[in-house]
Amino acid sequence: MESRQAPAPIELLVELRDVVKIHRDGAVRALDGVSLKIPAGQSLSIVGPSGCGKSTLLNMIGALDAPTSGEIRFRGVPLTAIRAPDRLRAREIGFVFQTFYLLPNLTARENVQMPMFGDGRSDSARVERAETLLALVGLADRAGHLPSQLSIGQRQRVAIARALANEPALILADEPTGSLDSRSGAEVMDLLGRLHTEHGTTLVVVTHDAGVAARAERVVRMLDGRIVADDVSG
Ligand SMILES: Nc1ncnc2c1ncn2[C@@H]1O[C@H](COP(=O)(O)OP(=O)(O)OP(=O)(O)O)[C@@H](O)[C@H]1O
Ligand SMILES: [Mg+2]
Repeated sequence: MESRQAPAPIELLVELRDVVKIHRDGAVRALDGVSLKIPAGQSLSIVGPSGCGKSTLLNMIGALDAPTSGEIRFRGVPLTAIRAPDRLRAREIGFVFQTFYLLPNLTARENVQMPMFGDGRSDSARVERAETLLALVGLADRAGHLPSQLSIGQRQRVAIARALANEPALILADEPTGSLDSRSGAEVMDLLGRLHTEHGTTLVVVTHDAGVAARAERVVRMLDGRIVADDVSG
């Protein structure tokens, strides 16, 4: 990956300090003291065996769940000091999951509009933006289709278009290629890679696919709730 411009102060988009997460039943320390700095504009993959805490970590970064102890900062501000984390999520973060979570009774065009409701956009502007995003992911001609009328790879691309609705600074993707065959998986990763290089979107991808992981500038390896390796390429 080419380095961008001359050295400038690195903005930390997300910082975790000694984060511990014990899930409600108390049996498992899903995260056992994780510290991680994610500079704005970086692409990072998180790898490790099933159950090592990858999804838990991603959910913490995305303010979907709160740590048991430790601190998470977004642009330097502790998440606990942010009064409306749902607004932070809606404005700054796009989520992409293995199983898409598209609403089955809504068309692709309608699914992509979902995060835009309440942002003051007019109906027509919202529809127009949804169609622009669907075109970006190569689905301009599928806007009126229901998820069930789309291929699995196309569904994931609709989910990515939806994740981009509010031009997030950060995309968090949990096994985004996990439900896809290798060709659709490569297309989805090309798309995410393009967002990263062309728009500077910070990208965090959880994956157990070594090929997917290797596309990132940085690979963080986890084991038993801890980071055991952190390699920056190039
Ligand atoms: N809601 C929950 N309640 C209790 N334990 C949980 C919960 N979610 C996850 N865990 C446990 O926390 C640990 C980490 O889970 P996590 O889902 O983060 O792993 P993962 O690395 O994403 O695994 P996979 O690759 O299988 O998706 C596991 O032992 C899991 O059983
Ligand atoms: Mg997981």
